[in-house]
Amino acid sequence: MKVTVVGAGNVGATCAYALAEKEIANEVVLLDIKEGLAEGKALDMWQTAPIKSYDTYLRGASNDYEASAGSEVVVITSGVPRKPGMSRDDLISINAGIVKSVTENVVRYSPDAKIIVVSNPLDVMCYCAYLTARIPSSRVFGMAGILDTARYAAFLAEELNISPKDIQAMLLGGHGDTMVPLPRYTTVSGIPVTELIRPDRLEAIIERTRVGGGELVKLMGTSAWYAPGCAAARMVEAIVKDQRRVAPVCAYLNGEFGMKNIYLGVPVILGKNGIEKILEIDLTADERALLEQSAAAVKTTLNVLDDMKIF
Ligand code: NAI
Ligand code: 2OP
Repeated sequence: MKVTVVGAGNVGATCAYALAEKEIANEVVLLDIKEGLAEGKALDMWQTAPIKSYDTYLRGASNDYEASAGSEVVVITSGVPRKPGMSRDDLISINAGIVKSVTENVVRYSPDAKIIVVSNPLDVMCYCAYLTARIPSSRVFGMAGILDTARYAAFLAEELNISPKDIQAMLLGGHGDTMVPLPRYTTVSGIPVTELIRPDRLEAIIERTRVGGGELVKLMGTSAWYAPGCAAARMVEAIVKDQRRVAPVCAYLNGEFGMKNIYLGVPVILGKNGIEKILEIDLTADERALLEQSAAAVKTTLNVLDDMKIF
């Protein structure tokens, strides 16, 4: 069983490595537009197999989608990342064209694949891939929520001085500063987090989560890759092992949460068919208002995609 990762940059290579190391697929194909980059990284990673003791084969290819043929899942990470001072939305003019052309090739060679979009601005790039792929939206979705909840959980674990393994959290909305972490749905081994932390500290952690990507861009001059790559690999694992994991995923909404014709982060069940079900949880009036605010921000970026007239 084959999984392809398009884009052999920071996120793509990390994702491919996580997939191989955990033996999530038999073969991982890494594809990039830069001649030799994917081949080199795949070869280097494959040479860790005897050391790390895994047998997933890694293969690299430059612009050759035939290598990706018949993939069960394709992860799209191709595109430019943010530099300090840029928002994710600033990337749309370059990344929309890249995601469109990559998706055309992906569906040509792997018409049955589940497509996980990672490129930013995430919610709008999911829409772009969906419009291009012309396959059911249950097979085109995006990675952001698992990363954002991981950041939220990591901050909470540090604050509470506990294992991050014991934190369960949910988060809604677009992958931007308007994302909506949900304290009401955050627990520590079943204990509501609000029982364990002062409201002002929790609010500070929620705020840090919202700008968590930007914090890393400021530190490194480019965006993060370890947690993003691993988060995408976890989605692949849920699909190829048909685990039916519940996680926040950027999904196409067709009436769910009262919204239509938009990609937004919502809780879903991920399994062999991709999005098996969107879980429409109850929201308070305040949570709903925050979700609507986030959807409005995504719509503004969607208008930029419309104005590009590439569809
Ligand atoms: P990077 O610059 O390290 O890698 C991007 C790779 O895409 C490069 O190797 C480049 O050659 C390749 N590429 C460009 N055009 C291509 C094409 N047409 N076909 C195939 N490959 C192509 O960037 P990085 O850090 O890996 O980030 C990738 C994308 O993921 C960015 O848009 C970034 O904003 C986004 N991202 C999204 C996250 C999320 O939570 N959804 C988290 C982190 C990054
Ligand atoms: C992140 O959140 C840039 O979307 C990327 O790290």
